[in-house]
Amino acid sequence: MKKLNFVVLNGPNLNMLGIREPEIYGKQTYQDLCNLICGYAERKGVLIEVKQSNHEGDLVDWIQEAYQNVDGIVINPAAYTHTSVALLDALKAVGLPAVEVHISDVAQREDYRQISYVREYCEKSIMGRGFDGYLEAIDYLIKRCEATLCK
Ligand code: DQA
Repeated sequence: MKKLNFVVLNGPNLNMLGIREPEIYGKQTYQDLCNLICGYAERKGVLIEVKQSNHEGDLVDWIQEAYQNVDGIVINPAAYTHTSVALLDALKAVGLPAVEVHISDVAQREDYRQISYVREYCEKSIMGRGFDGYLEAIDYLIKRCEATLCK
């Protein structure tokens, strides 16, 4: 049977994990996050590519590239969560199952973090679970894709 294939997209400043506001995002680095996700993917028998960019257009391009190439998208758009209609439009355009992840609990943070454009499209939003939120998102997509035989 063909392995499920997912992409995990990370937005601006997530490359600074471990350095940026450790009291909010923890002390583990972006590389730690990548290792965690890749190790999990191997154990679960799925293919996963993890990407990060500080540029909105890169994220739009990667969502478009996912079309017909992957079975689902995990996205932490970081600050673009709260500003980007372009990311929402891209997700709608490709029509793939998608899960929104935030390391911190954005619901408990500043007013300007209360809006999420991608949430309108994403099937699930996971926040405040630290790095484990990404693994929960992957579990959700595996179940979702196995149930509907995505491919
Ligand atoms: C974040 C929350 C966003 O509000 C913030 O801009 C980030 C990270 C999170 O993972 O908790 O950069 O998406």
